[in-house]
Amino acid sequence: MLSLPLPKRLSPESVNGSPIHNTTYENMVEQLEKIGKDALAALKKITDAEMLEEFRIKYLGRKGRITQMLSQIGQLPPEQRREAGRLANKAKKEISEAFEQLKKSLLQSQQEKSQELLDVTLPGIAVHIGKTHIITQTINELLEIFGRMGFAVAYGPEVEDEWHNFIALNIGPEHPARDPFDAFYIDDNTLLRSHTSPVQIRVMEQTKPPIRVVAPGRVYRPDTVDATHMYMFYQIEALVVDEDISMVDMKTTIDQFIHAYYGPEIKWRLRPSFFPFTEPSGEVDLLWVDKHGKENWMEVGGCGMVDPNVFDAVGIDSEKYTGWAFGFGVERLAMRKYGINDIRLLFENDLRFLKQF
Ligand code: DAH
Repeated sequence: MLSLPLPKRLSPESVNGSPIHNTTYENMVEQLEKIGKDALAALKKITDAEMLEEFRIKYLGRKGRITQMLSQIGQLPPEQRREAGRLANKAKKEISEAFEQLKKSLLQSQQEKSQELLDVTLPGIAVHIGKTHIITQTINELLEIFGRMGFAVAYGPEVEDEWHNFIALNIGPEHPARDPFDAFYIDDNTLLRSHTSPVQIRVMEQTKPPIRVVAPGRVYRPDTVDATHMYMFYQIEALVVDEDISMVDMKTTIDQFIHAYYGPEIKWRLRPSFFPFTEPSGEVDLLWVDKHGKENWMEVGGCGMVDPNVFDAVGIDSEKYTGWAFGFGVERLAMRKYGINDIRLLFENDLRFLKQF
């Protein structure tokens, strides 16, 4: 008969495959004492639930140190097993009790802490919810109104070249607006745009009529700051180009816009004016009550029929097409709407002011 060698059996008390030798009663008592001491020392260091669980696995778990001890009892001579078992169980009980006690007190202090957080007698913590600035709100509202009237939205760069900001708009080299004192120049050919009208040029360079756009954005001028002037402010530009566009279209659109934004009571007027890029040109004033309680006209911007020279500059046939444009000050529109009498309030970012909108 073929006898196969039996595989070397690992005894259950082996640890990591290496059997524990010399399990004697004395040895075991000594080890139990050491485990007990180690456990108590380890418990003292525990401060949270994670450490607590680590401890439980190491000492009381299925493969923990106490279980290991218990499983070695079978190796002792029978007359010693009973006493060794009693000692091991006693150690296990002591460690378990200390463990449970610590667990309880940790839980309790945790509850106490969370109760502290829920102290309903404390004053509430104010939650500050951010919101859009009044200028952004105004622009959004204007874009919505023009959107309903069929206008698309266009944007242009705030750093412009002379071509778009002046030349293509028929603003000649002698015009005072070209003076460095009237615009923030970066170099001979580059400046911070002084109005949103260059967006008209950029749109017409890229799009064939029919065109119907509004362009909101920041503009920059070296103005002396006062109640109605800022060196940076916002404009909203409009441009309509198509066949048979007349001044009636312009006036009707402006009238509809103003009533959509301010309601039926508002009074406005169109006054003749001059701009190099429109012919004829006009200015739009809104009636309002000024800070002295007096009815007064407040200018909000310019408008007019696109000058044929502008069409020529962008290669649009000025025999076939006509158009109108306007550029309004966004802050002025908002000031009239909300009764704000100083433009600086819109830029100081005082929360007491901003919160009102
Ligand atoms: N760009 C002019 C300004 O800033 C305002 C303006 C006037 C815009 C007439 C226009 C316009 O589009 O047609 O003073």
